[in-house]
Amino acid sequence: MTVPAELRQKLQQYRQEHVLAWWDRLTENERRQLIEQLSSIDLDRLTRLYAEREHTYRPPDSSRIKPLAIVPADAPDNAAMRAAGEETLRRGEVAALVVAGGQGSRLGFDHPKGMYPIGPISRKSLFQIHAEKVLALGRRYGKQPPFLIMTSPATDAETRQFFADHAYFGLPREEVFFFCQGTMPALDLATGKLLLEAPGRLFLSPDGHGGTLTALSKSGLLEQLRRRGIRHLFYFQVDNPLVKVADPIFLGRHLAQRSEASSKIVPKQGPKDRLGNLVLVDGRCTMIEYSDLPDSLANERDANGRLRLWAGSPAIHIFDMDFLARVTAGAGLLPFHIARKKVPYLDDTGQIVQPQKENALKFERFIFDVLPLAERWLVMETSHREEFAPLKNAEGADSPQTVQAALTNLAADWLRCAGIEVPRTANGEPAVALEVSPLFALDAEEFAARVDRNIRINGATYFV
Ligand code: UTP
Repeated sequence: MTVPAELRQKLQQYRQEHVLAWWDRLTENERRQLIEQLSSIDLDRLTRLYAEREHTYRPPDSSRIKPLAIVPADAPDNAAMRAAGEETLRRGEVAALVVAGGQGSRLGFDHPKGMYPIGPISRKSLFQIHAEKVLALGRRYGKQPPFLIMTSPATDAETRQFFADHAYFGLPREEVFFFCQGTMPALDLATGKLLLEAPGRLFLSPDGHGGTLTALSKSGLLEQLRRRGIRHLFYFQVDNPLVKVADPIFLGRHLAQRSEASSKIVPKQGPKDRLGNLVLVDGRCTMIEYSDLPDSLANERDANGRLRLWAGSPAIHIFDMDFLARVTAGAGLLPFHIARKKVPYLDDTGQIVQPQKENALKFERFIFDVLPLAERWLVMETSHREEFAPLKNAEGADSPQTVQAALTNLAADWLRCAGIEVPRTANGEPAVALEVSPLFALDAEEFAARVDRNIRINGATYFV
C-alpha cells in the first residue's frame, strides 16, 4: 500500500508530513488505519484552530449577563404540566439520549463509566439504572421510548458488548440505538504539529459532548427518529443515576412554552461551584462555565443574601427535534473550545514522552453552546437531592461513596413521603443502605402507591 498522492500533497501543504515518518516500518494493516485516520481529519480547520489558540473564548462583559426567569420546582401548575407531558409520552413522541463517550479519566475505572456498579445494594451499573428507567417509562405509558446511547471510539465496543451481554436490560433490542461520536486530533502546543501516539497512529480523543449533534445527524438517527414521529429528545449524562429520565412535568413545560431547548437547573451551593451557570446573555439563554464567570458577578447577592446568579447546570435538557434538525443543517455548528493538556506522544526518535507540563492543544465541543441558538427556551428548577449526583472522582466529592449516599437519601425521602421512617444516624442521615429499582417506582408518587405501608425498615432494603 502506498500513500495516496493527494493525501501526501495535503500533508505537505499543511506541513504535517512527519506523521508518515514511520511508514516504511508499518504493517499493511497499520498503514490502512493511518490513512483512514488522516483522511478523516480536516487539516484546514485544525490550522485555523491553531492560529486562533490565543483568542479562545472570552466571557461576555458583566453588563451583558443577567439572571434568567426560572420556573420553581413546586410551581402550582405542576399537575397540568405532568398531564401534558404524560400525553406526549403516550403518543410515543419522546426519545431518551445518554452521552457516554467520555473517557472518565478522573474516576480511573478501567471500563466505560456507564459500566460502573453504582447501586448501593443491587450494584447495578449506571447503564442498567438508566435503561430500566427508559423501560419503566415504556411500561407506564404504553409506548416504549427509544434509548439512544452516544459512545466514542474509546467506549463503543465495550458498551455495545455490555448491553448485549445483559440482553439490553429488558429493552426491546430494536429500541436501543448506539451511535459513536467523532474524534479530534491533538496538536503540539509549540508547533501545531499533529501528535502521534504510536508509529502508525495519531493521538485522537472524543470531540466533547457537543459532538452529540454532529454524530446524531451524521449517523442518520436524527432523521430516522423524526420520520417515526419523535418530537422531543431528552438529553442526560451517563454519570448521574438520579436523573428523572423524560420527567413528564419537565416535558409538559417544554411543550407549553413551545420551547426549542429546555434545561433543568440546580441551585448553586456556593458562588464558585464547579457547575455551568445558566444566565441570559444579550437576551439569550446561555451557559457560562464556572471558570469563566467573573468573580464579581459570581459573588453578587440579592437583598435576601441569595446568589444573584444561582442557577447551576446538571446537564439535563430537552431538545425539540425540529430545532436540532435546523441547527445541525449548518456546516460549522458548535464552536470548539481549546484546552491545554498533557498528552503523551511519540517523539522523533520513536520514544513515548510523558510530558511534565501542558504540551498539547485539545479541541472539544460543548452541548450547551446550542442553547443560545434557541428562539424559545424553558428553564426549570430541580435540586441536587432529587436529581443530581454525578459520579466524577474515585474519592471525595462526586465519588462512588457520595453517589451511593445520594441514592440512599432519595429512597429515604420517598419512604418518608409514603409515611415510612428509616433508622437515622445522629446527624439525620439514613443509617442503612436503601435503594429503589426503577422497575419498582420512578418517582415518589409511584413509590407511595406501590410500597407496603406496614413495612419496618431495620436494615439495608432494596425495593424491587
Ligand atoms: P465529563 O466532562 O465529566 O467527562 O463528561 P468524563 O469523561 O465523564 O470524565 P473526565 O473529565 O474524563 O474525568 C460529562 C458527560 O459527557 C460525556 C461523558 O460520558 C459524561 O456523560 N462526554 C464527555 C461524552 O459523551 N463525550 C465527550 O467527548 C465528553
